[in-house]
Amino acid sequence: MAEHYDSIAQEYKKAKELPIRLHIERYTYFNMLGDITGKSILDLACGEGLYTRQFKQKGASLVVGVDISEKMLELARQEEAKNQLDIQYIVGNVMELGKIGDFDLVVASYLLNYAQTEEQLQKMCQTIFTNLKPGGRFVTLNNNSEQSPISYLKTEKYGFIKTITEPLQPGTAIKLIFSVADKQFSFDNYYLSKDTYKKVLEKVGFKDIRWQKMLVSPEGIKEFSQEFWQDYLDCMPHFGIECFKY
Ligand SMILES: C[S@@+](CC[C@H](N)C(=O)[O-])C[C@H]1O[C@@H](n2cnc3c(N)ncnc32)[C@H](O)[C@@H]1O
Repeated sequence: MAEHYDSIAQEYKKAKELPIRLHIERYTYFNMLGDITGKSILDLACGEGLYTRQFKQKGASLVVGVDISEKMLELARQEEAKNQLDIQYIVGNVMELGKIGDFDLVVASYLLNYAQTEEQLQKMCQTIFTNLKPGGRFVTLNNNSEQSPISYLKTEKYGFIKTITEPLQPGTAIKLIFSVADKQFSFDNYYLSKDTYKKVLEKVGFKDIRWQKMLVSPEGIKEFSQEFWQDYLDCMPHFGIECFKY
Protein backbone atom coordinates (compact mmCIF):
# COMPACT_ATOMS: atom_id res chain seq x y z
CA MET A 1 0.00 0.00 0.00
CA ALA A 2 2.64 2.52 1.10
CA GLU A 3 4.88 1.65 -1.86
CA HIS A 4 2.04 2.06 -4.32
CA TYR A 5 1.12 5.52 -3.01
CA ASP A 6 4.80 6.44 -2.96
CA SER A 7 4.89 5.75 -6.71
CA ILE A 8 1.76 7.75 -7.62
CA ALA A 9 2.09 10.64 -5.14
CA GLN A 10 2.73 13.35 -7.78
CA GLU A 11 -0.08 12.15 -10.06
CA TYR A 12 -2.47 11.91 -7.12
CA LYS A 13 -1.70 15.51 -6.17
CA LYS A 14 -2.43 16.61 -9.76
CA ALA A 15 -5.75 14.74 -9.77
CA LYS A 16 -6.91 16.94 -6.93
CA GLU A 17 -7.26 19.70 -9.54
CA LEU A 18 -10.08 17.86 -11.37
CA PRO A 19 -13.36 19.82 -11.29
CA ILE A 20 -15.03 16.96 -9.47
CA ARG A 21 -12.61 17.40 -6.56
CA LEU A 22 -13.43 21.03 -6.15
CA HIS A 23 -17.12 21.10 -6.94
CA ILE A 24 -18.23 17.83 -5.37
CA GLU A 25 -15.58 16.43 -3.05
CA ARG A 26 -14.40 19.58 -1.30
CA TYR A 27 -17.86 21.12 -1.31
CA THR A 28 -19.46 18.08 0.35
CA TYR A 29 -16.59 17.58 2.80
CA PHE A 30 -16.63 21.14 4.12
CA ASN A 31 -20.41 21.17 4.20
CA MET A 32 -20.27 18.16 6.49
CA LEU A 33 -17.49 19.65 8.61
CA GLY A 34 -19.23 22.97 9.21
CA ASP A 35 -17.41 25.59 11.26
CA ILE A 36 -14.04 24.21 12.31
CA THR A 37 -12.75 27.38 13.95
CA GLY A 38 -10.76 26.56 17.08
CA LYS A 39 -11.13 22.77 16.64
CA SER A 40 -8.34 20.25 17.01
CA ILE A 41 -8.31 17.92 13.98
CA LEU A 42 -6.61 14.60 13.32
CA ASP A 43 -6.48 13.95 9.57
CA LEU A 44 -5.90 10.22 8.99
CA ALA A 45 -4.73 9.12 5.52
CA CYS A 46 -4.03 12.80 4.87
CA GLY A 47 -2.10 12.07 1.65
CA GLU A 48 -0.19 15.06 0.35
CA GLY A 49 -2.11 17.28 2.73
CA LEU A 50 -4.43 19.28 0.49
CA TYR A 51 -7.29 19.17 2.98
CA THR A 52 -4.97 19.09 5.99
CA ARG A 53 -3.72 22.55 5.02
CA GLN A 54 -7.22 23.81 4.35
CA PHE A 55 -8.32 22.80 7.86
CA LYS A 56 -5.64 25.03 9.34
CA GLN A 57 -6.36 27.82 6.87
CA LYS A 58 -10.05 27.66 7.85
CA GLY A 59 -9.26 28.25 11.51
CA ALA A 60 -8.58 24.86 13.16
CA SER A 61 -6.42 25.38 16.22
CA LEU A 62 -4.35 22.19 15.90
CA VAL A 63 -3.99 19.88 12.89
CA VAL A 64 -2.09 16.59 12.78
CA GLY A 65 -1.83 14.58 9.53
CA VAL A 66 -1.04 10.85 9.41
CA ASP A 67 -0.33 8.77 6.31
CA ILE A 68 1.28 5.44 5.57
CA SER A 69 3.09 6.76 2.47
CA GLU A 70 6.42 8.51 3.08
CA LYS A 71 6.26 10.04 -0.38
CA MET A 72 2.82 11.55 0.14
CA LEU A 73 4.02 13.09 3.39
CA GLU A 74 7.18 14.34 1.70
CA LEU A 75 4.93 16.38 -0.63
CA ALA A 76 2.93 17.59 2.38
CA ARG A 77 6.11 18.61 4.20
CA GLN A 78 7.41 20.44 1.11
CA GLU A 79 4.25 22.57 1.16
CA GLU A 80 4.65 23.11 4.90
CA ALA A 81 8.23 24.28 4.35
CA LYS A 82 7.07 26.75 1.66
CA ASN A 83 4.14 28.04 3.66
CA GLN A 84 4.30 27.22 7.36
CA LEU A 85 0.97 26.36 8.91
CA ASP A 86 2.35 24.54 11.93
CA ILE A 87 0.90 21.18 10.90
CA GLN A 88 2.50 18.06 12.32
CA TYR A 89 2.83 15.12 9.91
CA ILE A 90 3.37 11.56 11.12
CA VAL A 91 4.16 8.50 8.97
CA GLY A 92 2.06 5.61 10.23
CA ASN A 93 -0.48 2.91 9.56
CA VAL A 94 -3.86 3.92 11.00
CA MET A 95 -4.51 0.31 11.96
CA GLU A 96 -1.54 0.39 14.34
CA LEU A 97 -1.44 4.05 15.36
CA GLY A 98 -2.97 3.80 18.82
CA LYS A 99 -3.83 6.93 20.80
CA ILE A 100 -1.86 10.06 19.92
CA GLY A 101 -4.24 12.67 21.33
CA ASP A 102 -7.76 13.81 22.19
CA PHE A 103 -9.18 15.56 19.15
CA ASP A 104 -12.45 17.42 18.58
CA LEU A 105 -12.65 15.98 15.08
CA VAL A 106 -11.09 13.00 13.36
CA VAL A 107 -11.35 13.08 9.57
CA ALA A 108 -10.14 10.48 7.10
CA SER A 109 -11.15 11.09 3.50
CA TYR A 110 -10.87 7.81 1.55
CA LEU A 111 -9.29 5.77 4.33
CA LEU A 112 -11.92 3.18 5.26
CA ASN A 113 -12.10 1.87 1.69
CA TYR A 114 -8.58 0.48 2.15
CA ALA A 115 -9.80 -2.04 4.72
CA GLN A 116 -9.90 -5.41 3.00
CA THR A 117 -11.58 -7.24 5.87
CA GLU A 118 -13.95 -6.47 8.70
CA GLU A 119 -11.03 -6.94 11.12
CA GLN A 120 -8.94 -4.30 9.34
CA LEU A 121 -11.91 -1.94 9.29
CA GLN A 122 -12.35 -2.46 13.01
CA LYS A 123 -8.70 -1.58 13.68
CA MET A 124 -9.08 1.65 11.70
CA CYS A 125 -12.34 2.58 13.42
CA GLN A 126 -10.88 1.77 16.84
CA THR A 127 -7.99 4.19 16.19
CA ILE A 128 -10.45 6.86 15.09
CA PHE A 129 -12.66 6.39 18.17
CA THR A 130 -9.70 6.30 20.57
CA ASN A 131 -8.34 9.61 19.31
CA LEU A 132 -11.63 11.50 19.75
CA LYS A 133 -12.67 13.45 22.84
CA PRO A 134 -16.04 12.52 24.31
CA GLY A 135 -18.45 14.68 22.29
CA GLY A 136 -16.12 14.46 19.27
CA ARG A 137 -17.11 13.71 15.71
CA PHE A 138 -15.75 11.56 12.90
CA VAL A 139 -16.26 12.80 9.33
CA THR A 140 -15.13 10.96 6.22
CA LEU A 141 -15.64 10.55 2.50
CA ASN A 142 -15.51 7.05 1.07
CA ASN A 143 -16.00 4.81 -1.89
CA ASN A 144 -19.74 4.12 -2.13
CA SER A 145 -20.10 0.36 -1.76
CA GLU A 146 -23.64 0.62 -3.02
CA GLN A 147 -22.76 2.03 -6.46
CA SER A 148 -23.85 -0.49 -9.05
CA PRO A 149 -20.92 -1.84 -11.10
CA ILE A 150 -23.11 -1.30 -14.18
CA SER A 151 -22.41 2.42 -13.76
CA TYR A 152 -18.64 2.13 -13.16
CA LEU A 153 -17.72 3.50 -16.60
CA LYS A 154 -20.22 6.36 -16.51
CA THR A 155 -17.82 8.62 -14.63
CA GLU A 156 -15.21 8.74 -17.40
CA LYS A 157 -16.06 12.35 -18.25
CA TYR A 158 -15.14 13.39 -14.70
CA GLY A 159 -11.63 11.92 -15.05
CA PHE A 160 -11.98 8.52 -13.41
CA ILE A 161 -13.63 5.12 -13.70
CA LYS A 162 -13.84 2.05 -11.47
CA THR A 163 -13.30 -1.54 -12.65
CA ILE A 164 -13.61 -4.97 -11.05
CA THR A 165 -12.50 -8.40 -12.22
CA GLU A 166 -14.81 -10.43 -9.98
CA PRO A 167 -18.27 -9.91 -8.47
CA LEU A 168 -18.43 -7.67 -5.42
CA GLN A 169 -17.92 -9.59 -2.19
CA PRO A 170 -16.04 -8.72 1.02
CA GLY A 171 -12.48 -7.81 0.04
CA THR A 172 -13.02 -7.51 -3.74
CA ALA A 173 -10.52 -5.03 -5.21
CA ILE A 174 -12.17 -2.08 -6.96
CA LYS A 175 -9.61 -0.44 -9.23
CA LEU A 176 -9.93 3.33 -9.65
CA ILE A 177 -8.30 4.53 -12.84
CA PHE A 178 -7.71 8.28 -13.10
CA SER A 179 -6.91 10.12 -16.33
CA VAL A 180 -5.37 13.52 -15.73
CA ALA A 181 -3.76 15.58 -18.49
CA ASP A 182 -3.39 12.48 -20.75
CA LYS A 183 -1.69 10.48 -18.00
CA GLN A 184 -3.28 7.53 -16.25
CA PHE A 185 -2.73 6.17 -12.79
CA SER A 186 -4.68 3.74 -10.67
CA PHE A 187 -5.08 2.38 -7.19
CA ASP A 188 -7.30 -0.22 -5.55
CA ASN A 189 -10.02 0.26 -2.98
CA TYR A 190 -11.71 -2.74 -1.39
CA TYR A 191 -15.36 -3.65 -1.16
CA LEU A 192 -17.04 -3.99 2.20
CA SER A 193 -20.80 -3.52 2.43
CA LYS A 194 -22.47 -0.47 3.93
CA ASP A 195 -23.91 -2.78 6.60
CA THR A 196 -20.38 -3.85 7.55
CA TYR A 197 -19.31 -0.21 7.90
CA LYS A 198 -22.33 0.48 10.11
CA LYS A 199 -21.82 -2.64 12.21
CA VAL A 200 -18.13 -1.90 12.84
CA LEU A 201 -18.63 1.80 13.59
CA GLU A 202 -21.29 0.84 16.14
CA LYS A 203 -19.14 -1.94 17.55
CA VAL A 204 -16.27 0.42 18.43
CA GLY A 205 -18.74 2.79 20.11
CA PHE A 206 -19.89 5.35 17.53
CA LYS A 207 -23.45 6.66 17.76
CA ASP A 208 -25.81 8.46 15.44
CA ILE A 209 -24.20 7.29 12.18
CA ARG A 210 -25.28 9.46 9.24
CA TRP A 211 -24.75 8.81 5.54
CA GLN A 212 -24.30 11.86 3.37
CA LYS A 213 -24.91 11.93 -0.39
CA MET A 214 -22.35 13.89 -2.37
CA LEU A 215 -23.43 17.42 -3.30
CA VAL A 216 -22.52 19.70 -6.20
CA SER A 217 -21.54 23.28 -5.43
CA PRO A 218 -23.64 26.10 -6.90
CA GLU A 219 -20.44 27.33 -8.65
CA GLY A 220 -19.97 23.88 -10.19
CA ILE A 221 -23.50 23.92 -11.57
CA LYS A 222 -23.00 27.44 -12.90
CA GLU A 223 -19.70 26.57 -14.58
CA PHE A 224 -20.54 23.10 -15.96
CA SER A 225 -24.39 22.80 -15.82
CA GLN A 226 -26.62 20.48 -13.82
CA GLU A 227 -26.74 18.11 -16.78
CA PHE A 228 -22.95 17.65 -16.70
CA TRP A 229 -23.05 16.49 -13.07
CA GLN A 230 -26.20 14.39 -13.34
CA ASP A 231 -24.40 11.12 -14.23
CA TYR A 232 -22.25 11.49 -11.13
CA LEU A 233 -25.28 12.17 -8.96
CA ASP A 234 -27.19 9.26 -10.50
CA CYS A 235 -24.45 6.69 -9.85
CA MET A 236 -23.01 8.33 -6.68
CA PRO A 237 -19.47 6.81 -6.68
CA HIS A 238 -18.66 8.20 -3.23
CA PHE A 239 -20.48 9.14 -0.07
CA GLY A 240 -19.81 10.81 3.25
CA ILE A 241 -20.13 9.34 6.74
CA GLU A 242 -20.50 11.27 9.97
CA CYS A 243 -20.78 9.79 13.45
CA PHE A 244 -20.30 10.77 17.08
CA LYS A 245 -18.51 9.72 20.24
CA TYR A 246 -20.77 10.63 23.16
C1 LIG B 1 -7.04 8.38 -1.95
S1 LIG B 1 -5.75 8.98 -0.89
C2 LIG B 1 -6.61 10.21 0.04
C3 LIG B 1 -5.71 11.30 0.57
C4 LIG B 1 -6.42 12.45 1.25
N1 LIG B 1 -7.19 12.03 2.41
C5 LIG B 1 -7.29 13.17 0.27
O1 LIG B 1 -8.52 13.11 0.37
O2 LIG B 1 -6.73 13.80 -0.63
C6 LIG B 1 -5.64 7.67 0.25
C7 LIG B 1 -4.49 7.81 1.22
O3 LIG B 1 -4.64 6.82 2.21
C8 LIG B 1 -3.36 6.41 2.62
N2 LIG B 1 -3.54 5.15 3.35
C9 LIG B 1 -4.08 4.01 2.89
N3 LIG B 1 -4.11 3.08 3.86
C10 LIG B 1 -3.61 3.67 4.97
C11 LIG B 1 -3.37 3.22 6.30
N4 LIG B 1 -3.69 1.98 6.67
N5 LIG B 1 -2.83 4.08 7.18
C12 LIG B 1 -2.51 5.35 6.82
N6 LIG B 1 -2.70 5.83 5.56
C13 LIG B 1 -3.24 4.99 4.66
C14 LIG B 1 -2.58 6.35 1.32
O4 LIG B 1 -1.19 6.35 1.52
C15 LIG B 1 -3.10 7.59 0.61
O5 LIG B 1 -2.29 8.72 0.86
